[in-house]
Amino acid sequence: MTPRPVEFAPSTGAGMTPDKRSEIPETTAAAVRTCTRCRLHRTRYRAVPGEGPIDAPVFLIGEAPGRDEDTSGRPFVGAAGKVLDKVLQVAGLPRPQLYITNVVKCRPPENRAPKADEIASCRPYLLAQLEAVQPKVIVSFGATALRGLLGPSARFKEARGKGIEFGRVPLLPTYHPAAVLYNRRIEGEIRNDLRAAARLVSAETSGIRRGRGRKRNRSHRVSAGSRGPSRAAKRSARPSR
Ligand code: URA
Repeated sequence: MTPRPVEFAPSTGAGMTPDKRSEIPETTAAAVRTCTRCRLHRTRYRAVPGEGPIDAPVFLIGEAPGRDEDTSGRPFVGAAGKVLDKVLQVAGLPRPQLYITNVVKCRPPENRAPKADEIASCRPYLLAQLEAVQPKVIVSFGATALRGLLGPSARFKEARGKGIEFGRVPLLPTYHPAAVLYNRRIEGEIRNDLRAAARLVSAETSGIRRGRGRKRNRSHRVSAGSRGPSRAAKRSARPSR
């Protein structure tokens, strides 16, 4: 089944009843698993729809599945996933409480970057997931994920740390966890950005469920990356999964 393109309207729930909304991740996942919209379906082993609770306050978006994800059908379970698990833990964001997906749900051959038409074909799935989850904060990993969300003219270096939004939801672009495998200094940058995401959730709600949530002011301005990336981080090109 191919999903209809949906508009992302997180503040309204697009008029959906809670029951309807909670069905979307599963119907989207089913559609992704049988999707033939782009050439990537020919070379995938398993499609990787994404995972997480419907009420996840933080929505994480990567680039595309790598080999381990293609084998398992789950996002971020390989080397980049191990980095992600570590930074999430340090930032106080428990992975089971987050929604995690990619802009492209099938592995590109040889881990090449997804092409613009592949991103466009997959975009309705991402929008459907965002519409269903209605997160408090979106975090995108790397330049491709940011472009997948905002369009081809989005510039990672310009967007990071700027307090931007997607559909009125704060969007924090950070480095891709795979970049840490080539440049360890990036880990600290991702950790700071994820901490900023955790602070935003606390500001918006009673926070991530770890017993320390506290209401704070509702400003979307965040300090993540406000001092700009380190020189090491700037050198980091698109990481290979
Ligand atoms: N890299 C990604 O962008 N997504 C994954 O799921 C794994 C590695």
